[in-house]
Amino acid sequence: MDADVEAAEDRKRRAGVAAAEEVRSGTTLGLGTGSTVRHFLEALAGKLSSGELEGIRGVPTSLATEARSNELGIPMVGLAEAGRLDLAIDGADEVDPQLDAVKGMGGALLREKMIAQAARRFVLIVDEGKRSQRLGTISPLPVEVVPFEWEAHLPFFEALGAEPVARTDVAGGLVYTDNGNPIMDLHFRAGITDTRKLERELRARAGVVATGLFLDRVDRVIIGSDEGVETLDRAPGSTSG
Ligand code: 5RP
Repeated sequence: MDADVEAAEDRKRRAGVAAAEEVRSGTTLGLGTGSTVRHFLEALAGKLSSGELEGIRGVPTSLATEARSNELGIPMVGLAEAGRLDLAIDGADEVDPQLDAVKGMGGALLREKMIAQAARRFVLIVDEGKRSQRLGTISPLPVEVVPFEWEAHLPFFEALGAEPVARTDVAGGLVYTDNGNPIMDLHFRAGITDTRKLERELRARAGVVATGLFLDRVDRVIIGSDEGVETLDRAPGSTSG
């Protein structure tokens, strides 16, 4: 493996391994999606097989996470059956100092949001390259829309100041989420100036299913770096939903 790629994986692994320390026996927890979460799943599976943890039930945020968790022998349960979750652990594409985040470059934003809203505690794991002073400067904002006449949203997104790009695969075909919906990646040249206003405007739009903005939701961010891990906690008094 290329040295830079290996170092990047190490940063993600440090965050994933640290997140496994947050898990207690007997808890029901949301299992996020992405390459950082894969390290968390491996660390969690290690603790289950050594007997350090027991009685865990995971609620996966994507078919990919479900498949990987199955391979690793992590017991799983559906969201409706689980009800309220003790904890959810997920990756992110960008995190700001208020612990607001952009997610969804892995395409699982809707399920991730549903599982985050069911969780008493929501923890993100990222490498230090995801830290940002203004959301939208590192990552585009993924927005999941229904397939029906999806092109009709493009002028609306442009009117919001974005350059929308429909997410496609290498063959140029639209990428569909696990829910069968396409994703529009909204690029903001100077970042997102007002995340709350943007979220309101996008959510009010018929045909938009979910945005990748996770606002006032995150309790803790664990950041993996070359030196180790840093943990940022939500300021006391500002509660997550
Ligand atoms: C998937 C996500 C991922 O958590 C996000 O894209 C981060 O992924 P990675 O850890 O691979 O960088 O939101 O929808």
